[in-house]
Amino acid sequence: MSQDPAAHRWNAVDAYFTELLAPSDDALDEALRASDVAGLPRIAVAPNQGKLLQLLAQIQGARRVLEIGTLGGYSAIWLARALPADGRLVTLEANAAYAEVARANLARAGVAEVVEVRTGTALDSLAALVDEGAEPFDLVFIDADKPNNPHYLEWALRLTRPGSLIIGDNVVREGAVADADTTDPRVRGVRDFLAMTAEHPRLSGTALQTVGSKGYDGFSLARVTS
Ligand code: SAH
Ligand code: DHB
Ligand code: MG
Repeated sequence: MSQDPAAHRWNAVDAYFTELLAPSDDALDEALRASDVAGLPRIAVAPNQGKLLQLLAQIQGARRVLEIGTLGGYSAIWLARALPADGRLVTLEANAAYAEVARANLARAGVAEVVEVRTGTALDSLAALVDEGAEPFDLVFIDADKPNNPHYLEWALRLTRPGSLIIGDNVVREGAVADADTTDPRVRGVRDFLAMTAEHPRLSGTALQTVGSKGYDGFSLARVTS
């Protein structure tokens, strides 16, 4: 994943942490295997990142979680496992074939009952959720097309409540995020998203760099205030 000379050690430490603290099981293994077989890109969160999402959802006492960007449902399995029996995870995916793979993976993991995979462009699905008067979400995980991150944050603010947590994946991308002059629309999207987080009167946020089996990247956390 990364050309960094330290990548070998990042992988070794991730393997150690994962085996110890975020061990896989048949459902998670099978989700990755079925995703590979179906030709999905290998860009799901790492196991220890999935466990972090699960812990954050539990710390949050989340009953309702929104994910933007399902892929094969790997992060969705981790998040769904944090939910109470009457909880709900709504996860949005533009690619209908990916969404089918995710539904099968979520069913195999035994969480199909609490997860709804919505096929369609996330911006459309988010507008539909607002139109439907969806109950506020306690946690939102933004992990889809990065140029739309500022729009996803706007919608997330409409679909959350004071105390909700908004997580953004892939905010570092090998350090590219620090380049103020970048013309890469993905990096621009992330920078505008972070600037909005900083300036918004109803958000308090931070961002962290990470290294590991997913290379050098990072994530942001923001709490919806009053
Ligand atoms: N959260 C997943 C990884 C998501 S990868 C995990 O960690 O397991 C990003 C996903 O966003 C891809 O599946 C891609 O098809 C989807 N995506 C990209 N643009 C989108 C859009 N406009 N609307 C909805 N989904 C989109
Ligand atoms: C990519 C997207 C992701 O959400 C991720 O976690 C890693 C890589 C990508 O589009 O390359
Ligand atoms: Mg991601």
